[in-house]
Amino acid sequence: MNEQQRKQSNQIKQVDPSDIKSAPDSNLERIKNIDSDELIGKYFQATYEPPNLKKAKKRRREDVEVHYDFSIPEEMQNVGNGKKFLIRTYGCQMNEHDTEVMAGLLTDMGYESTDDTNEADVILLNTCAIRENAENKVFGEIGHLKPLKLEKPDLIVGVCGCMSQEESVVNRILEKHPFIDMIFGTHNIHRLPGLLKEAMFSKEMVLEVWSKEGDIIENLPKVRKGKIKGWVNIMYGCDKFCTYCIVPYTRGKERSRMPEDIIQEVRQLAASGYKEITLLGQNVNAYGKDLEIEYGLGDLMEEISKIDIPRVRFTTSHPRDFDDRLIEVLSKGGNLLDHIHLPVQSGSSDVLRVMARRYTREEYLRLVDKIRTAMPNATLTTDIIVGFPNETDEQFEDTMTLMAEVGFEAAYTYIYSPREGTPAARWEDNIPMEVKKERLQRLNALVNEQSAAAMKKYEGQIVKVLVEGESKKNPDVLSGYTERNKLVNFRAPKSVVGKIIEVKITKAKTWSLDGELVKKVVEVV
Ligand code: 5AD
Ligand code: SF4
Repeated sequence: MNEQQRKQSNQIKQVDPSDIKSAPDSNLERIKNIDSDELIGKYFQATYEPPNLKKAKKRRREDVEVHYDFSIPEEMQNVGNGKKFLIRTYGCQMNEHDTEVMAGLLTDMGYESTDDTNEADVILLNTCAIRENAENKVFGEIGHLKPLKLEKPDLIVGVCGCMSQEESVVNRILEKHPFIDMIFGTHNIHRLPGLLKEAMFSKEMVLEVWSKEGDIIENLPKVRKGKIKGWVNIMYGCDKFCTYCIVPYTRGKERSRMPEDIIQEVRQLAASGYKEITLLGQNVNAYGKDLEIEYGLGDLMEEISKIDIPRVRFTTSHPRDFDDRLIEVLSKGGNLLDHIHLPVQSGSSDVLRVMARRYTREEYLRLVDKIRTAMPNATLTTDIIVGFPNETDEQFEDTMTLMAEVGFEAAYTYIYSPREGTPAARWEDNIPMEVKKERLQRLNALVNEQSAAAMKKYEGQIVKVLVEGESKKNPDVLSGYTERNKLVNFRAPKSVVGKIIEVKITKAKTWSLDGELVKKVVEVV
């Protein structure tokens, strides 16, 4: 934490712990008395700066410190006894994992988790800012929560995650939804206990958003969502500044965790019986660049490959930083799975240039070739944006041909959505919505076709499936994923949940496979 942040965090007023139980109806009073202009002046300007490309590009690494001494303040350790929390998570795996950290913090404060909003004493919305529709969903949910808050004034409702890092969002909440009790940013998660304490007593909305990224806090508690698959952050933030993307502003600069801290976490997960881990980062291929040691993702994965955990995945990759060392390590196989998610975004070199992706179509194809030569059976999946400003029909056709040429087996496809503060948002969003939708439909039809064709090849084959539990659609059917991330549904005794077993594929669908258990249930690792 730097000096300025320390000063900012001191603005949160200290509360006498003996007041904790005697703060009834404080929130109701606050709803009545709220004056959002005053709040903006008081909290917002002090702790927030809008996205600024020039400034963000001057980020320097030396301000980041690693801390191993986090603890929940004593007076907050039992504040949740007999109370419940609910966290709604929107967006990417990074948010899913942040939710696990916030669940850990709340659990250590005595709270229990619930899925029922009516039962909850604390509700947090962990938000996503990547596209406008993600934000609309959150505002819809905020609207739904208002009657509950009015009915239960002591309920604490908080908004956190990427949307909190946006000035326009914070202003809108202050103006239109002043019943919200707290807003905190992606760099302020570890401050949750103190912020919650403040929200319990304050008559005003508690707002703490650091525009500058914070330090790395290593020993935050976590309550993971399952006991089979686990997320492991290897780095935070992104320095790529693709022109359409809000992430470098909401998540801050790239900060890598130290290899030994990551390895220790993976070892602990393996010792606790986890079967699969996914190494997480917005741009994992840049892992290590900010450290003062010569050490990259390939080196890290090589060390992790020696740990006794059956499956290791990683996401998300940026083609520009995907180096030969990583390919060499991945090609050795073992527990490193050969499913590579490699967002391309567009098949046109001209569009890629204005997106500031820093590779051409040809360079991307050369990388795919290299990967395929080293790992002939690797599955490739991708992300694609259609309708970027000025994207011509021909440029979109380049995306269609690239999709087929690479033979992606799945793709997340998106209509371009301008994000305030990004360079692209200053350009006219000039592709009409009907054209964007038509392009998306054509692309999706091709994606479905390629996925179905990839699935068809599995018919009759025996695959290894990590069984996760009952299928979403039918509780009599179990489901799990293959090494190449294909969803398989099959009937089997519940005792196989959490195990890696062999399943014979009987029928391929577009996005999943049906199978039957290979006679003997032996765990195959
Ligand atoms: N509009 C549409 N899609 C976007 N993505 C990122 N920013 C935007 C945007 N402004 C997509 C990219 C990225 C994925 C996570 O979301 O394809 O890889
Ligand atoms: Fe956004 Fe990914 Fe580009 Fe980073 S690399 S700016 S997270 S699209």
